[in-house]
Amino acid sequence: MPKVTFLPEDKTVEFENGKLPYREHGKPGSLLDVAMNFDIHLEHACGGSCACTTCHVIVVEGENNLSQAEDDELDRLDMAAGLTLRSRLGCQAVVTGDVKVEIPGWNRNYISEGGKSTL
Ligand code: FES
Repeated sequence: MPKVTFLPEDKTVEFENGKLPYREHGKPGSLLDVAMNFDIHLEHACGGSCACTTCHVIVVEGENNLSQAEDDELDRLDMAAGLTLRSRLGCQAVVTGDVKVEIPGWNRNYISEGGKSTL
């Protein structure tokens, strides 16, 4: 049962691998797909098709529990603001085990938790 923690909310979600309903955005089982399943706000301006950088996240732990970044993700990430060596696109990184990621401040226009903004 992979666990994914989203910072700075520090919200951890757990699910059975391959069992989440696909939310039609990004790769099935991606960080974006997981976030959408649990109502965690992660921007996805292009709808998860690797054509923007708004789903940029920084991997804090569990880098090896994400799918390898493919060339199109790496090319797109090159254009991301605040790029780090641990940056990934949430819509492209598929979760295979426990991961902790941070949603950078510039991507947090608002974060809703139970419908209320934390900003
Ligand atoms: S949502 Fe646009 S690249 Fe991920």
